[in-house]
Amino acid sequence: MAQHDDGGTSTAAGSAVEKAVPFVPSAGTAVVTSDAIKNPGLPPHRERVTDLDPKKDRQAERRVYTLFYLSIVGSVFAVAAYIAFPITPGDTASVRLNTLMLGLGIALGMLGIGIGAIYWSKNLMRGDELTESRHLTRGSDATRARAAEIMHEGNVESGIGRRSLIRNSLIGALVATPLPAIVIFRDLAPAKDPVKLLKETMWAKGTRLTRDPTGTPIKASEVTLGSVFHVIPEGLNDKEDRLEEKAKAAVLLMRLKPEDLHVSKGRETWNYNGIVAYSKICTHVGCPVALYEQQTHHLLCPCHSSTFDVTNECEVIFGPAKRPLPQLPISVDSEGYLVAQSDFTEPVGPSFWERS
Ligand code: FES
Repeated sequence: MAQHDDGGTSTAAGSAVEKAVPFVPSAGTAVVTSDAIKNPGLPPHRERVTDLDPKKDRQAERRVYTLFYLSIVGSVFAVAAYIAFPITPGDTASVRLNTLMLGLGIALGMLGIGIGAIYWSKNLMRGDELTESRHLTRGSDATRARAAEIMHEGNVESGIGRRSLIRNSLIGALVATPLPAIVIFRDLAPAKDPVKLLKETMWAKGTRLTRDPTGTPIKASEVTLGSVFHVIPEGLNDKEDRLEEKAKAAVLLMRLKPEDLHVSKGRETWNYNGIVAYSKICTHVGCPVALYEQQTHHLLCPCHSSTFDVTNECEVIFGPAKRPLPQLPISVDSEGYLVAQSDFTEPVGPSFWERS
């Protein structure tokens, strides 16, 4: 039995009869024009099972209001869960539980409304196929003339065309009003110069090369032919922002036969007896280049397969990367530990920063 706004009731059979009354939409304000292509019309209307069977109609109605009630339960549950499962600072489990319960409640609330509304419209709302007349995109000449007249009247009434001082000061005020937003958004930028932050790494003259993640220094004698070390600068693990620093300073260390290395002018002293260090940050979009092919001396980036030739100063031999991996100039200290000679001489990571 369906309840109506006017307080009366009607059976679903009654509503099925109601639906049978043909509905002819009005063209409203549309300007109906003849189409260049003949309207093929719509296929014959097919009644739905809820249009024909009052029992099915009542079933569909029950489903719809059950879904809406479920939505109410979900929303109330979300509020109750927020109170019942509070977040305890520092306790990740409490964050997870709170988020899970809140999410379940909100999901039920939204799904109940969404599915209910779709089901309602598909099964119970009128199912007639309608055609809607299109409006002309261009107004009629009379409409356009009237629009121009309204603009003119507005000009005369406000005096904006005549009172140039008011007009100009208003334009100035409108231009100036958004300016505070620029200052506010500028405040969101990093406190330090981002270009400098990205150009410089922790490496400096005398910084020891240490193993990742233990931070133990590496002696040149420990780097055997064909071996590869994942390297971080000494002291990185003590830094508060170690992850940010590591993302720029991570290095791969390899030893090749000195005669296998093709060294360009100016880089003769950057390797130590065939031990070379290159940035681990791919020059494509910054993934860690972590695969070393010992036989071919190729470094591979697992993200998009850029391949770098270690014997040729890590030049790109395959893939989307556009420039070689930056080389870290290295040497040894008095105790035989590998140290950097300086920071990288070019920005690490994606090529964009090289151009800044
Ligand atoms: S990030 Fe290395 S190939 Fe794309």
